[in-house]
Amino acid sequence: MVYQVYPRSFCDTTGTGVGDLGGLRAHLDHLVWLGVDAVWLSPICRSPMADFGYDVSAYDDVDPLFGTLADLDGLVAEAHAAGLKVLLDWVPNHTSTEHPWFAERPEFYVWVDGDPLVPPNGWVEAFGDGPAWAWDESRRQWYLHLFLPEQADLDWSNPNVVAAMHATLRFWLDRGVDGFRMDVVHCIGKGHDLPELLPGQELAPVVAIDVPFTHTLLQGIRGVLDAYGAMSIGEVYLLDTAKVATYYGTPEAPELHLSFNFPGLWAPWKAQTWRTRINEVERHLTGDRWPTWVLSNHDVPRHRTRYGSEARARAAAVLLVTLRGTPFLYAGEELGLEDAVVPADRVVDPGGRDGCRAPLPWTAEPGHGWGGGAEPWLPWPPDAAARSVASQRADEGSTLWFYRRLLAARQGSPALRSGTFAWIVAPPDVLAYLRTSGGDRRLVLVNQGAGVAAVELEGNWEVELASDGSSTPSALAGDAAVILRPV
Ligand code: NOJ
Repeated sequence: MVYQVYPRSFCDTTGTGVGDLGGLRAHLDHLVWLGVDAVWLSPICRSPMADFGYDVSAYDDVDPLFGTLADLDGLVAEAHAAGLKVLLDWVPNHTSTEHPWFAERPEFYVWVDGDPLVPPNGWVEAFGDGPAWAWDESRRQWYLHLFLPEQADLDWSNPNVVAAMHATLRFWLDRGVDGFRMDVVHCIGKGHDLPELLPGQELAPVVAIDVPFTHTLLQGIRGVLDAYGAMSIGEVYLLDTAKVATYYGTPEAPELHLSFNFPGLWAPWKAQTWRTRINEVERHLTGDRWPTWVLSNHDVPRHRTRYGSEARARAAAVLLVTLRGTPFLYAGEELGLEDAVVPADRVVDPGGRDGCRAPLPWTAEPGHGWGGGAEPWLPWPPDAAARSVASQRADEGSTLWFYRRLLAARQGSPALRSGTFAWIVAPPDVLAYLRTSGGDRRLVLVNQGAGVAAVELEGNWEVELASDGSSTPSALAGDAAVILRPV
């Protein structure tokens, strides 16, 4: 189980209103109590924050807003002592235009000659409806930006870019980090031979770029990681599981250790859709291609908000933790947080993602455990006092305790951690499956319908955990899930 921390929103200890590394260090015990194995930090490198850290201006330093390199070293040491692995976010597709390379090593970027009035192709930037190209008057050339104009795309067909970016990995690996989440890493191979995209795909090149050269580059990156025994989880934003599978490489030429597979993230609360998504994973992510699952992250509305109720959010968490693969949990999900309502005058993200980035409430009192008394950079999520970690720790029926039991159930069962997956017969609204590892077995029933369902089972099973605290196989409440173990 990997726990994603969006550092800006986790906990402020310096009175800036923005979370920092000290805030994470102060709450590592929360992660340990919850039962996670690894923590992934969204970007902490130096950044002008046009995209809140996904626009890096120095890959070898911590942004002062978050702390110092010494703070990071302290965090890694404390996390390791607590049995947690540390993964950093690595942004290889683009840098901030404030990175010194942009002025000093312009050949590191994707430039195209042309007419200042006509962009080189029809690609559209990710957070707007303008072209993914910006005209540079001094060079009289266009540069590519799949995201904001402040995020210039690197040209990985230049071997010096490859070497420089490998060095950025080694910088952090030498400091003891255990691996990286790699931002839109499937796009890095587009290089100078910009791929032709079908009409329509140009509106969202980030979810369409899929070129062979990226695989060559990933093999090289894998070599850097393997020398340290480190791991990678790639953000492969292709909404097609068969394509995602290719980014794991082959046993002879391995690429990513893990890849995100977002069709599940985008699935509505509908058993038919989930069944299809799960089948795609069972078909394509086999052998060394170990699946991942994610319900929420810093780019999409939280699943509690998308699915519309706490009951559904808890039942969905059962799916997250019991499907075959590694689950990723976005900080605050374990509190059942909803997205914040962000008034127009507090909007800060050009991509409209502020709601899911609301600060985490640690305590019930005003300020919610954020130090320094500054107003946080975004409004608090709804019911912040009741949803706070302290309030929920005091209530064993809370969603927080439920997540802890869920992670313990996974931890205690080889079948749930790494067993095989097989569907069992159930009513159409119920996802029902068996996980098996040697003699260990678990049955999981998730009712995505609104009505009570009954599932007939072969053999004797008892409820290990119910998302609503009371459901059984013969009376599975609407939007409830159970984990069953053999008696
Ligand atoms: C994906 C990240 O998750 C998102 O937050 C960011 O804006 C883009 N990549 C660009 O780096």
